[in-house]
Amino acid sequence: MINVERIIVALDCPADEARSLASRLAGKARWLKVGMTLYYAASPSIVREFKERGFKVFVDLKLHDIPHQVRGAASSVVAAGADMLTVHGAGGLAMLRAAAKGSEQAWQARGDTSERPKVIAVTVLTSMDRASLAQVGVERSINEQVTLLARLAQEARLDGVVASPQEARALRTLLGPNAAIVTPGVRPQGASQDDQSRTATPAEALENGASHLVIGRPITAAPNPASAFDAIMNEIESNGTNPR
Ligand code: C5P
Repeated sequence: MINVERIIVALDCPADEARSLASRLAGKARWLKVGMTLYYAASPSIVREFKERGFKVFVDLKLHDIPHQVRGAASSVVAAGADMLTVHGAGGLAMLRAAAKGSEQAWQARGDTSERPKVIAVTVLTSMDRASLAQVGVERSINEQVTLLARLAQEARLDGVVASPQEARALRTLLGPNAAIVTPGVRPQGASQDDQSRTATPAEALENGASHLVIGRPITAAPNPASAFDAIMNEIESNGTNPR
């Protein structure tokens, strides 16, 4: 995979701003991320719009419901054009399998030439700490819980996981070379941390085993998003990282 295919630009903003950012990034970025704020405000048509403009779209809705619902939701999201989507690992094996099935069926029905969409699992939200995990009845450590849910995703034959840059190395060892490991919390050298606390540079995250980097504000809040995107690409290329 070439490096430009590894950067996913998170558009966490209102629809008009997202459209304008997409125009400014057209011809540069390959991937855009539509999270729940934008998706629920703009409807699945925003995914179709971005696809028509030539982007790959990562739809990050973190699905979590009974298997029947999640199968339907994954199917709807893929029918809208998603190339990658998220589900909560904590939804259990049957739910994860249902997501994979819904995605696969909608992709086949789509009948286009795109690669099979990737279904990836969120393990433990990085907003959770050990105490908040205990509040919902999980007494084991965060790392143990991340490992348990990553194994479950693997058993359900999902394509990978979302992980913090700090978790990426252990997960790469656990899940093997082909898994998608999608990492937010990435900040270029010298960039503002915003509200992220444990960040890594793009090169560090790739070195740790990430396959894709989700980067929002360092690109979307820059005076010139296209130049900010180029600067990140240069930072990766000049680091000589040799990611998988
Ligand atoms: O602007 P920034 O680069 O911080 O955006 C990071 C993106 O990754 C946001 O869309 C955020 O929702 C997402 N994310 C995150 N931390 C997680 C999971 C997702 O920052 N643990």
